[in-house]
Amino acid sequence: MLRSTTPTPDSTSVSTGTRPLALMVTAAMLAWLALPPGAALAADATLAAADPQRVSAKQIKKCAKCHLEEGVTDDPEIPHLAGQRASYLYKQLQDYAADRRDGGRMNKTASKLSAQEMADLSALFASKSLPAQAGVSVLPAPAQVTAAGEKGCAGCHGEDGRGKHDKYDAPALAGMPIPYFKMVMEAFRDGERQNDADGVMREAAKGLGDADIESLAAYYLSLGQRKAMPY
Ligand code: HEC
Ligand code: HEC
Repeated sequence: MLRSTTPTPDSTSVSTGTRPLALMVTAAMLAWLALPPGAALAADATLAAADPQRVSAKQIKKCAKCHLEEGVTDDPEIPHLAGQRASYLYKQLQDYAADRRDGGRMNKTASKLSAQEMADLSALFASKSLPAQAGVSVLPAPAQVTAAGEKGCAGCHGEDGRGKHDKYDAPALAGMPIPYFKMVMEAFRDGERQNDADGVMREAAKGLGDADIESLAAYYLSLGQRKAMPY
């Protein structure tokens, strides 16, 4: 189990219908039980109890230095937080704090947050939307997007690129800045980023050429109806 700070039951107990007796059934547990087998990866009681209202103005200001107040970045090497899935944001903060992902200064920033602060901030930024820009037309999907089987990006990230709440809880990609997209794809391909559950992204990025990554980046940016930022 990669992401939990609080103990979560293993997924097999759900698929067989037998839960350990010691577990108390809480609201978070009930939400978790509604998920399909295997979804335990995405379950976390702290996240389920997140409250964006608890985030202080001071806290938002800290993140806003780089991510801006609304979580819509103006720096192409920084990801948007607005409209990203809360479960994904939360997992990344945990991964940075535990040095499972190298995000430069993000690691130190995340290490100073409690699990509850991470959850509250994740819920806050996830509740904001990534605005569309006028004059963007969606590009044709590259072959990798709709490919059948293990590698098809849409299978996990959704046809609309908004991510999917399933076994892998893949993040939204729509509207992601091109340089950031390329950087993380190369990091997965080259095995430098290893925080993906079951190595799914290292597998999906395997064998992609730079031109493939470039066209995937352009496609996903357009899918979010966003224009490329100057770089
Ligand atoms: C000094 C600039 C800076 C500050 C301050 C900062 N971030 Fe970041 N953040 C970044 C950069 C750069 C990245 C991409 C790092 C990488 O390559 O992994 C990032 C990545 C992230 C990610 C991962 C997003 C994704 O799509 O994978 C999350 C979540 C995040 N930041 C949340 C926060 C929160 C919450 C705060 C405030 C507590 C914060 N950041 C403060 C610069 C910053
Ligand atoms: C089997 C499921 C799966 C498939 C197939 C898949 N992904 Fe992912 N992807 C994920 C998951 C899960 C993550 C989050 C990993 C983590 O926890 O950091 C992710 C993360 C990413 C990220 C990083 C997002 C960020 O904010 O840093 C990018 C970019 C991405 N995927 C692009 C793609 C592309 C392009 C394809 C197709 C070539 C693809 N993915 C195929 C599951 C998948």
